[in-house]
Amino acid sequence: MTAVDAPAVTAPALAATGLVRHFAVSGRRSKAERAAGAGRHRAVHAVDDVSLVVPAGTTLGVVGESGCGKSSLGRLLVGLDRPDRGEIEWAGERAGTHRGQVQAVFQDPASALDPRMTVQDAIGEALPGLRGDELRAAVDELLHRVGLDAELAERLPHQLSGGQQQRVCIARAIASNPALVLLDEAVSSLDASLQAQVVELLLQLQERNHAAYVFISHDLRAVRAVSDRIAVMYLGQIVELAPAERFDLELLHPYSVALRSAEPHLPGDGHRIERIVLQGDPPSPIDPPSGCRFASRCPVAQARCRTEAPALVERTDGHAVRCHFPGSLVPLVLPEEQPA
Ligand SMILES: Nc1ncnc2c1ncn2[C@@H]1O[C@H](COP(=O)(O)OP(=O)(O)OP(=O)(O)O)[C@@H](O)[C@H]1O
Ligand code: SF4
Ligand SMILES: [Mg+2]
Repeated sequence: MTAVDAPAVTAPALAATGLVRHFAVSGRRSKAERAAGAGRHRAVHAVDDVSLVVPAGTTLGVVGESGCGKSSLGRLLVGLDRPDRGEIEWAGERAGTHRGQVQAVFQDPASALDPRMTVQDAIGEALPGLRGDELRAAVDELLHRVGLDAELAERLPHQLSGGQQQRVCIARAIASNPALVLLDEAVSSLDASLQAQVVELLLQLQERNHAAYVFISHDLRAVRAVSDRIAVMYLGQIVELAPAERFDLELLHPYSVALRSAEPHLPGDGHRIERIVLQGDPPSPIDPPSGCRFASRCPVAQARCRTEAPALVERTDGHAVRCHFPGSLVPLVLPEEQPA
């Protein structure tokens, strides 16, 4: 086969390998930490050995309880923080090149917008090549795409509602046609109907621009609705990574099964999953336990789990799980309509 007939190999929009981010902890060790054998140089293990790939035009969802490392990971992926170890590539090149190709939207739009900058100037910043009427037309078009009236262009952030501010942030993020967008709880502060509208808009833009999204949320239902693949995090690690459609009834990690069972049931879901209530809180992310990090709360833990850390292993095509006994916590599936 000549170079001319060789199939084009396109690098994924984002590829991360072996990412580690620890934050040093100052101050005295607590009694519990001393008892657990914590050394003097303690660190929060915010991200521990995370590898993932996001092809162009697809969305990777990231879910997990508060403090499990979702935002720390997101910040590494878009270059807002640097890993202690590991590699990140954007479109096959070392992260950091082509900065404008990577954008991020966070939960709190008010803090993301400069209070003294009009909407026009905030969005205009992302369009440095344009001036005058051309710039105005481009801003109007972006406002239109996020469902906002062009009249808002002259307003300051405090003259907008929270939902309008967030849509300005999204307009600014998509202005430069980025190849990769981090959406970290980006729609969580919006009410349900606005959330649905903004998500729809993001998906339309993705179809048009072929951007890759990393969609972070504590809300598994929201993540399932927008993602092609989903990573479940627990104490800084990915414990399960699978196509979104497996997240209804085909999960293999006990933590993911419990997380799925806690999703509120909506009429029309077709079935209900009995809630599995996990006992206790996650262990401290400061020097987490050896062995499986979920062992203290896992309903199906065995002796091996407390001494031997499981690796993230691909079990079937595109479905990886970090557990010695995958599939051993089986959700109880109930018919949608329960007799009274
Ligand atoms: N700059 C920092 N310095 C020290 N510790 C940090 C820093 N950033 C995050 N952490 C710690 O790292 C851990 C992971 O935090 P992170 O914000 O990534 O979690 P999260 O999953 O995004 O949580 P949430 O759902 O509440 O947003 C937490 O224990 C947090 O306290
Ligand atoms: S390795 Fe053991 S403790 Fe950890 S999730 Fe699997 S069964 Fe539970
Ligand atoms: Mg967060």
